[in-house]
Amino acid sequence: MPVIATRWLRPMRGGSQTHLIQASDGHHYVVKLTNNPQGLRTLINEWVAQRILTHLRIPCPEVEVVSIEGEFIEANPKLGILRGQSLTPAVAGWHFGSRFPGDPGMIAVYDVLPDIQLLTCRNLHHFAAVLAFDKWTGNADSRQCVFYRAKLAEVLPNEDLYPAPEAMMRGLVASMIDHGYCFNGIYWDFPDAPGYGLFYRAEVHRKVRGWTDFEPWIERIRSFPESVFDKALHEIPRAWLDAAERDELVALFEKLLRRRSKVPDLIEAVKDRYPERFPNWR
Ligand SMILES: Nc1ncnc2c1ncn2[C@@H]1O[C@H](COP(=O)(O)OP(=O)(O)OP(=O)(O)O)[C@@H](O)[C@H]1O
Ligand SMILES: [Mg+2]
Repeated sequence: MPVIATRWLRPMRGGSQTHLIQASDGHHYVVKLTNNPQGLRTLINEWVAQRILTHLRIPCPEVEVVSIEGEFIEANPKLGILRGQSLTPAVAGWHFGSRFPGDPGMIAVYDVLPDIQLLTCRNLHHFAAVLAFDKWTGNADSRQCVFYRAKLAEVLPNEDLYPAPEAMMRGLVASMIDHGYCFNGIYWDFPDAPGYGLFYRAEVHRKVRGWTDFEPWIERIRSFPESVFDKALHEIPRAWLDAAERDELVALFEKLLRRRSKVPDLIEAVKDRYPERFPNWR
């Protein structure tokens, strides 16, 4: 069941014109509206990507369907999509929510960091992980994440690469966001350009020394189970997916399963085209 929007806080930056909203479960969500300028399919992409990332054990926010009621829209006249000066209100119904990692009034969350701080991020190894994910899912955007202070164990309860004491210490962590352009956005195909899915700073891959840094993720993708897609298909609200779209989504899942083994070649293409991204990979 969806959570219900209870308090509008503010619009967020970015092309899909998301809004920060508190919901009936007490959590805050960055909400992508069904009538956002990047298209309804970006909500489906967000949902599916989160389920994939969770299975791969790559940190990302929890997601929920957020129900926005007519009265809430009337009470919050800024909740909508701006085109020039004119605002198209949100449509009453079910939208996509990416959970904010705490109370926005209490926690500092950053999109970008100066290099010196970036290098203190506790889970930089997940940028290699998420590159494998981005290549597999044909993310046609650059890699985005949010940084905030937390215990690694809170972000990733099943983390298996860190020794336990380190996982319990607070530090800067990265959580992967913005998956609207996975599967090439609304196109649901895979142009596979080497430049797609790269983070704005090469520093995040400084510790990459070779294939072993990608191996756990390549392996998890290689053996990725179809059941995760079946489950996602049941979870996605009907309002986002009519029968024809459903067939296309099933076809997309089949394409994804077929390209599981392609990931090493896709990473290799990034390395060949942008060797400066991996300064220590010999
Ligand atoms: N779960 C989250 N927790 C905290 N902040 C978030 C979360 N999800 C998104 N944001 C913030 O909201 C902004 C917009 O989200 P997102 O990048 O998903 O949408 P977008 O409109 O597609 O962005 P852009 O066009 O800039 O790529 C992000 O830049 C980030 O600051
Ligand atoms: Mg974005």
